Amino acid sequence: MPVITEIEDLRRLHRQRVPRMFYDYVDVGAWTGSTYRANRADFGRILLRQRVARNIENRNLATTMLGQQVSMPLALAPVGLLGMQHPDGEICAARAALAAGVPFTLSTMSMCSIEDVARATGAPFWFQLYTLRDEEFLDSVLDRARRAGVSALVLTLDLTIQGQRHKDLKNRMTAPPRMTLPNLIDIAMHPRWALGMLRTRRRSFGNIVGHARGVTNLGDLMDWTSRQFDQRLDWARVEQIIRKWGGPVILKGINDPEDARRALDTGCAAILVSNHGGRQLDGAPSTIRALPLIRRAVGPDFPLYLDSGIQSGQEALKAIASGANGVFIGRAFTYGLGAMGQKGVETALTILRREMDITMALCGVNDIRNFGPECLWPGDRGNAA
Ligand SMILES: Cc1cc2nc3c(=O)[nH]c(=O)nc-3n(C[C@H](O)[C@H](O)[C@H](O)COP(=O)(O)O)c2cc1C
Repeated sequence: MPVITEIEDLRRLHRQRVPRMFYDYVDVGAWTGSTYRANRADFGRILLRQRVARNIENRNLATTMLGQQVSMPLALAPVGLLGMQHPDGEICAARAALAAGVPFTLSTMSMCSIEDVARATGAPFWFQLYTLRDEEFLDSVLDRARRAGVSALVLTLDLTIQGQRHKDLKNRMTAPPRMTLPNLIDIAMHPRWALGMLRTRRRSFGNIVGHARGVTNLGDLMDWTSRQFDQRLDWARVEQIIRKWGGPVILKGINDPEDARRALDTGCAAILVSNHGGRQLDGAPSTIRALPLIRRAVGPDFPLYLDSGIQSGQEALKAIASGANGVFIGRAFTYGLGAMGQKGVETALTILRREMDITMALCGVNDIRNFGPECLWPGDRGNAA
């Protein structure tokens, strides 16, 4: 077992332990991957200020996100198909988040259902919704979320049509996998994963199969899903869904100052600046590049979160200093899940927490709530300062 000191170690283990089609589904961007790469590379261009002699003995990373106490300003982003990375993956990730004191967001496209996660954790979590055309399903899924104690809805706006990921097409990725010869070989080479999957009954989309009208098997499901993403989505529809839900909504997938300004009028509780981890519009700016302009557009006090590209505590801190009130991580915890299940997600969160804590200290700050633009090198403060 290798010594695990950084998220990259978890990525390597994930790659070894999970069939290739599911690892590839995670570690990929749309088309040329330019936005996927920029999401990380642009963090590298921002410098933190090294400050000394500022008494950093007692430090605090705890704060609030959406009014909820969190042990650090970081949440797990909605990631589809976690239950294909590890048996009952959504439950494992939700439990790890709960143990670490950070929010977990369940994807619509999960293997474990809303009810499974509620039962397994006994605690509130966040639920991500795609804007779907099937109104009956939408009403019922919102109702199920309410009954399961979901405390916030994360409404994804940047996937009403899917960006192309070459690897998924070439691998003919489906969940559960089709029993073709290449897939059988792939699975046979990962016996630990295969045995785990045999032991769970959660191998299909738990929020959908048996809930959406007429969806009982994989064929129905693929057919239903391909018809569901609502390309007619506009701001009026966003407002309608926010009203339907009636509780706090985070609008996810905004990466432009004009959209951010418009979003303020919807009554949403927060915006998650995101380009879907570079999986949608290839050629869009990285979120860290867009963030300062978006912060300026929404004003200093509106809750703004950022995801896409965060795989270290330093990157999380750069986002916070550039105007985010907190960050979401997708791949960073998914690598942990694929590598070691719940323990791997816990390890990912421990790594990120330690990196944030020590880096904040080396910047001469002892409370995350004071980590602002002045912690960045003067030329790197964008328009947020
Ligand atoms: C494998 C994978 C599946 C995803 N599935 C969803 C999803 O079901 N719903 C959603 O809103 N976003 C989804 N996302 C996007 C994430 O919520 C998040 O925006 C992105 O992962 C952030 O970038 P990062 O992975 O670099 O942290 C997915 C991302 C990945 C990597």
